[in-house]
Amino acid sequence: MRYAIQTIGLSKTLTLEGRPLDVLRGVDFHANDGEFVSIIGPSGCGKSTLLNIIAGLDSPTSGVLSLHGRAGSARLGSVGYMQQKDLLMPWRSVLDNAVLGLEIQGVSRREAVSRASEHLGRFGLDGFEASYPHELSGGMRQRAAFLRTVLAGQDVFLLDEPFGALDALSRSQIHRWLTGLWESMNKTIVLVTHDVDEAILLSDRVYVMTARPGSMKTVQRIDIARPRSADMVTTPRFVDLKSALLTSIREDAHAHEIAV
Ligand SMILES: Nc1ncnc2c1ncn2[C@@H]1O[C@H](COP(=O)(O)OP(=O)(O)OP(=O)(O)O)[C@@H](O)[C@H]1O
Ligand SMILES: [Mg+2]
Repeated sequence: MRYAIQTIGLSKTLTLEGRPLDVLRGVDFHANDGEFVSIIGPSGCGKSTLLNIIAGLDSPTSGVLSLHGRAGSARLGSVGYMQQKDLLMPWRSVLDNAVLGLEIQGVSRREAVSRASEHLGRFGLDGFEASYPHELSGGMRQRAAFLRTVLAGQDVFLLDEPFGALDALSRSQIHRWLTGLWESMNKTIVLVTHDVDEAILLSDRVYVMTARPGSMKTVQRIDIARPRSADMVTTPRFVDLKSALLTSIREDAHAHEIAV
């Protein structure tokens, strides 16, 4: 089976003030081509580190990573990555930030601006195309960074808590939009989130990580038919899945408290 992303026994040890710090230990993870996978885990367990490694911004200490069946050493730029910190360029306007990925790919400015402009309204950024990041709210900055990631158009997207600063209403709009994009374009998406409802509503499978050093503790298939909508959160199957995931998350928090 050729996965879009696969890690086998992936580990990462950092050196912190001269001492080794095990951040990831033996992470076995995969995402099928076109699959929507979420990752949930306690703060500091290594979720962002894992995405950094998959994106090629960092390298593992040991273990195997492959993208589309190829061992991924030259993977920088082959996946779209929205980092937890939005990393908008402060000297570029919203529009100029949004078209950055397209520009890097050599798309003409006129074409890039036209594609970006189509999406500004849906991201609640209409009228702000000429504004600079410091003039925007936290949620608007996130939406601009999300727009930039999506416009770059890779087959695999890594999204690190992209909706954290959105209120429930705009969150459900973005969920619908993201689901529509994913269904129509056959993208592979890996989403890191703290929101269990969000993970269930959007995903085919949800991984739960242990506390640091992080590894995959459980994986839950979300066997709820699509299309899904926010009012499904009260259905019996949703409630069962949520309770299984919460149990897995809590067990670990408890084990961690005892260990500490
Ligand atoms: N550059 C760094 N230098 C030192 N320690 C780091 C560095 N980056 C990450 N860490 C440590 O590695 C661990 C994992 O960090 P990471 O950001 O991957 O966690 P996370 O699961 O994304 O957490 P959160 O849910 O809070 O975003 C943390 O304990 C953190 O303190
Ligand atoms: Mg993180």
